Amino acid sequence: MALKRYTYSDRLQKLPPYLFVRLEELTAKKRAEGLDIIDFGIGDPDLPTPEPIVEALREAVSVNDYQKYSSSAGERDLRVAVAEWYGKRFGLDIDPDTQVCVTIGSKEGIFNIAQAFVNPGELIIAPSPGYPVYSGAGTLFNEARCVKIPLREEKDWLLDVDECPTDARMLYINYPNNPTGATCDLAYLKRVHDWCEDTDTILCYDNAYSEMCYDGYLGPSVLEAGPNAIEFGSFSKTFNMTGYRLGYAVGNPDLVAGLKKCKGQTDSGAPIFTQKAGIAALRMYDGRRLPDAVSRNMAVYAERRKVLVEGLRELGFNVKMPRGTFYVWFNCGMSSERFTEKMLDLGIVVTPGTGFGESAEGYIRMTVTEPVERIREALDRIKRGHV
Ligand SMILES: Cc1ncc(COP(=O)(O)O)c(C=O)c1O
Repeated sequence: MALKRYTYSDRLQKLPPYLFVRLEELTAKKRAEGLDIIDFGIGDPDLPTPEPIVEALREAVSVNDYQKYSSSAGERDLRVAVAEWYGKRFGLDIDPDTQVCVTIGSKEGIFNIAQAFVNPGELIIAPSPGYPVYSGAGTLFNEARCVKIPLREEKDWLLDVDECPTDARMLYINYPNNPTGATCDLAYLKRVHDWCEDTDTILCYDNAYSEMCYDGYLGPSVLEAGPNAIEFGSFSKTFNMTGYRLGYAVGNPDLVAGLKKCKGQTDSGAPIFTQKAGIAALRMYDGRRLPDAVSRNMAVYAERRKVLVEGLRELGFNVKMPRGTFYVWFNCGMSSERFTEKMLDLGIVVTPGTGFGESAEGYIRMTVTEPVERIREALDRIKRGHV
């Protein structure tokens, strides 16, 4: 029998292909042609999850009660651990019952918060370049309209609220920033928080990289700036737990309640056993400082970042040493797509800046998820390839 064809909904048709799916296809093609690929593409840590977290998962997965449905708000003991962590890390007093919701990775929360609060036709402000979910599914699946506000190198990639419309429903921002590696201070967050209060705009702060920082810097929480925001945190990058799909949303009780209500209809929460692993992760902190397991990881990324940045500088590129994230971001001196293709021909996967927004034309993102020898090999290939 012939297979029937089905057309996507209008909203799905409007959604551009997810950047990394396309990159993966191109990379697979090059691999099949026999090229040895050095991959600086997707932001997926190559280092393992710290052992105490894996151990907690192993133990939890064999407990019968932990094999059952969780609740869409998340297990109370993880919500308590998140609230305690906010106390240790930021000195904030957070109520685990009304101000915390566990998410299935922060991506899910970032998408669902728009489902919960944005009506068709309303405006969502997203930075450009920016994490694609803000302007993609977050906007399009709600029939909302996205205003993309360009981030600029001369403004240190900080979104300027004076350039934003004052009649939007929601604003997404993210520092330490993907893809630019830019960081911000609390004074900046205070300005954004107050602007959002004044303009009645819901402030969604994506803090997935708060712990991925260097040189003594640590990312602030937007909730240090004020209570009227929702912040998304993630276990993915801090603890090398991307595959666990675990994150949290913390903030204003109404915003958290809306997210919980939305999740109640669409999922039944993250698996309980991964949530137990999340508790073990957060309990590694005994104060503001990064625990040893996390700082050991960050030392590895710091060295790779240094080798890559210095190597690119020697090749003539103007590259800033990032204070946060594991991304290196620079102007490649030609179109992002052309540079990406040239690199692929050399067996090097990079991400074109334009995948994060048109205003990043000419920029490239490289993730330091390859060991130092492979970074040196890539630099050597670029040198020999005269890119
Ligand atoms: C800025 C930003 N936010 C959120 C996420 C999603 O992280 P997760 O869903 O794994 O918590 C990512 C992942 O790359 C990201 O770069």
